[in-house]
Amino acid sequence: MSESTTFSDPSTLVPQELAIVGGLMCYDAARVAHPGDALFDPRNPALKARPVGQGGRNAAWYVEGDFGRGVLRHYRRGGAVARISKDRYLWRGKRATRAMAEFEVLAAMYSHGLPVPRPLAAAFWRSGITYRAAILVERIDDVTTLAELVQQQPVADDAVCQQVAHAILALHDGGFWHADLNAYNILLDCNRRAWLIDFDKAVVGPVPASKRSANLNRLHRSLRKVSPDTAHVWWKGINAAYMVLQSAKTRTVQ
Ligand SMILES: Nc1ncnc2c1ncn2[C@@H]1O[C@H](COP(=O)(O)OP(=O)(O)O)[C@@H](O)[C@H]1O
Ligand SMILES: [Mg+2]
Repeated sequence: MSESTTFSDPSTLVPQELAIVGGLMCYDAARVAHPGDALFDPRNPALKARPVGQGGRNAAWYVEGDFGRGVLRHYRRGGAVARISKDRYLWRGKRATRAMAEFEVLAAMYSHGLPVPRPLAAAFWRSGITYRAAILVERIDDVTTLAELVQQQPVADDAVCQQVAHAILALHDGGFWHADLNAYNILLDCNRRAWLIDFDKAVVGPVPASKRSANLNRLHRSLRKVSPDTAHVWWKGINAAYMVLQSAKTRTVQ
């Protein structure tokens, strides 16, 4: 692709790499005019960082800059390993770092037209056999998490269930598997369009039936946790819509 073709289409990602002190960053040159590690520091006043404060590990911030509005996330460990280190991961090569891997998978999904945020930048800082990492993605405006919606509405909204099912099916059919499809990782915008976020440890490749069910069952458990009384009716709606859409698609292909 010639340079002029690349830059004439603003929706085209232009991934570039840049060495930073102690590590490396990659970024979308079509959106990030001033790359550098200041992009990943929530104390940098230029970013006007505000903690997201819902549904995560308290290491995500709404930020803004000449790249537009974004969400900055520092990778944090969960579970028992977090007692050993909250934010350090074992070095297994550049492309295997959480940030570079998530940037790459998001870029591929975004280019496929899937409902995911555009990745803006990702970085890691290496120290011997461990590293820390962070990612910056485009913010989807005016969203509610599925978790909030399910807590607020005891009756499942059919249109929302359809949209959520459609997004999950498109992800699977596109050859991507979400490693943590919980109710905070599904966002609904003001047009009730569903968006999927948080692709840490996502897997690329054909998604077999067992892995599809694993995603849907994970979502069921998460809904039960956030709203025990209303979870089942919502999950039934989403699961049924997924099955119907999937078999309709299979029939069309045959
Ligand atoms: N691109 C985005 N647009 C709008 N809100 C987002 C976006 N990414 C994350 N959020 C909000 O931040 C929360 C935490 O972000 P997430 O990427 O899921 O990180 P984690 O769960 O690891 O903390 C989400 O549940 C959502 O409320
Ligand atoms: Mg999350």
